[in-house]
Amino acid sequence: MKALILAGGVGTRLRPLSCTRPKSLFPIVNKPLLQWTFERLAKHGISDVILAVNYQTEAAIKQHRIPKYGIHTTYSRDPLKKPLGTGGPIKKTEKQIGHSEPFLVLNGDIFSDVNYTELLKTHNEKEAIATIALHCVEDPSRYGVAELMQNGRISRFIEKPPRESAQSNLINAGTYVLSPGIFEYIPKGQQVSIERDVFPKLAEEKALYGYVYGGLWIDIGKPEDYLQINETLLDSFAYRQENKTGRNSVVREPVAFDTGVSIGEKSVIGPYVILGRNVAVGNNVHIQHSVILPGTSISDSSSIDGAILGDSVIIGEKAKIAKKCILGDHVKIRDNVTLAEGVSICPAKEVTESVFTRGNIC
Ligand code: GTP
Repeated sequence: MKALILAGGVGTRLRPLSCTRPKSLFPIVNKPLLQWTFERLAKHGISDVILAVNYQTEAAIKQHRIPKYGIHTTYSRDPLKKPLGTGGPIKKTEKQIGHSEPFLVLNGDIFSDVNYTELLKTHNEKEAIATIALHCVEDPSRYGVAELMQNGRISRFIEKPPRESAQSNLINAGTYVLSPGIFEYIPKGQQVSIERDVFPKLAEEKALYGYVYGGLWIDIGKPEDYLQINETLLDSFAYRQENKTGRNSVVREPVAFDTGVSIGEKSVIGPYVILGRNVAVGNNVHIQHSVILPGTSISDSSSIDGAILGDSVIIGEKAKIAKKCILGDHVKIRDNVTLAEGVSICPAKEVTESVFTRGNIC
């Protein structure tokens, strides 16, 4: 089975971190999301992957040189200044995919352990045009909601319904198997939303099926979800730390440190802290519930709680970074600066004074 990974979105909701990297390259416990996906695809015997990208995401992914576990990878690029949405890229790859067998489509911003082999099996049993992996969530209003019948057919598919009108808690897990018949439902060269323009129609025509899946699943589309998947994985695996920790410093598990991390004296790191490659932490620093990307340095007596810090950020002495703060790559925070809850700072910005109200600083 061939797989198509949709990886050409803009990732508005993950700004400012997505200004400088596509969502598929966000590190999840210090490993790019796309690498996790390739690992899983290889495990299920998938040897051919097409990445549906735009100019920027293609360049970023190629530059990253992530391991592909023997999977043959090609790129299909959306036209410049004309994103094709979640459906258009499928039509664009019609020739590459061919008409001989069903194929897998994955949203590139999903972390999950959906069993692709089982999904395909369900698809083949039903002779469907599309079979969607469905996941049960508490609030389905942010997703595509499926009404599933006993025989596994989806009778109705509604994208992002208001919470009170959602008829089910089963949502599109961003993973589906499609039969070549799908190409007839997508016009060529157009921006198409598979969730809004195609799935509802297939449901009406009784050609849409569901595969309910109860394992690990998270869409990293929003900062809180991104932090959540990192925490969930810290809970699931035991990460061994080999780093330079100064005298009287305390590491509270679970944490994950990449290579080259250094921690000064009397610092308290954890629980739920991920430090990327070469992150340097000074003395008397407190960090908890946060993800810190590679190359960032945090000076003495600073504290960080529930934040995401981009690549090569510099935090001055005695700075305080509160919950839900997001700092873009190369941001500089001067000594004694406090950032209140929910402050986002655009890449490369220098912040010289405290910010006491939530919002974006660009
Ligand atoms: P937001 O702007 O935060 O909504 O993110 P997004 O633009 O990535 O949209 P969404 O989360 O709905 O996208 C789902 C998946 O489809 C993601 O993996 C995107 O990378 C991908 N995607 C979305 N739009 C396009 C597009 O126009 N072209 C391509 N090739 N992929 C897309």
